This record gives sequence, C-alpha cells and structure tokens, in this order.
Amino acid sequence: MTTDAIVLLKDDHKEILRVFRDFEKAGDGALKTKGRLVDRMIELLTVHTYIENEVMYPRVRELVPELEDDVLESYEEHHVADVLVTELAVMDPSDERFTAKATVLIESVRHHIEEEESEWFPQVRESLSRTVLREIGAAMVEAREKAPRRPSQPSALKKTIDAVIS
Ligand SMILES: [Fe+2]
Ligand SMILES: [Fe+2]
Repeated sequence: MTTDAIVLLKDDHKEILRVFRDFEKAGDGALKTKGRLVDRMIELLTVHTYIENEVMYPRVRELVPELEDDVLESYEEHHVADVLVTELAVMDPSDERFTAKATVLIESVRHHIEEEESEWFPQVRESLSRTVLREIGAAMVEAREKAPRRPSQPSALKKTIDAVIS
C-alpha cells in the first residue's frame, strides 16, 4: 500500500464526494438516510481536516514556502467547514435548516477539494520528492489513528478553539 501523501488525500476526497452525491440523490423525505449520510460526512471530514491540519499543511508550509497563501486559505476553508460540521452534528434531520446547511457544507467542501486537487497539490507534487511525500503520508496514517471522529471530541474542539482564538 502506498503512503504517498497526495494519493492518500485524494482517496479520502473520493470517498467524501461519494457521500455528498448519495446525499444529493436521497429524496426530500428520506430523513433517516440523510441523517446517516450526514453522520458519515461528519466523521470523514473531521478525520480528513485533522490529518491535513496536523500533518500535510504544516509540512507543505515549511517545505514549499511559495504555497504559504494557498495553505492559509485552505486552513480558513477548513474552519468554515468545521463550523458547519459542528452545527450539523447537533441538528436533527427534521430541522428545516438541516438540508440547507448540509448543502452549503457540500458546496464549500467541493470547492475546497477542487482547489486542493487542481491548484496546489500539483505544485506540491512537483516541489517534493516521492520519498518526502511518502514520509508525509506515513505521518498522516499515524495521525489518522488518533484523529477525532466527531467534532465534540476534545482534540477536535481544541482545533476549533485554536482557529477562533489565534
Ligand atoms: Fe483540505
Ligand atoms: Fe483535502
């Protein structure tokens, strides 16, 4: 199994986008299905943003300084997703704002993934050797094991508080 950082992150993206499509296909009245799919999104996004925030982004910032602005913008986009995820996590699918909020989350994360994959990951691939990308990937595999799975878990809350205060 490869641990190339970009391959790992793109695999995560694929899974996230699949859940987004399933949500969009679910009927208006399919509250149980939509609730389950949002729970899955929350878990996937909480883990994914954690490993990017903790490993990928700081390493890219350090090793590819010309991508500093892209990384900073991406941190902010994660923060917007965190806010929506935190709200959705305590919301019932029957709430009139539930589908609207999930839709805004989907739109903003799709845009974010698109920017990562087409704007700055290719530059990371060009700037770093395969060995370094594998090291970063291995560190992400390790980080994934202790990653929070719900926004209410302490390590996820700390992330949110850091983002708000700093
Ligand atoms: Fe990201
Ligand atoms: Fe990502």
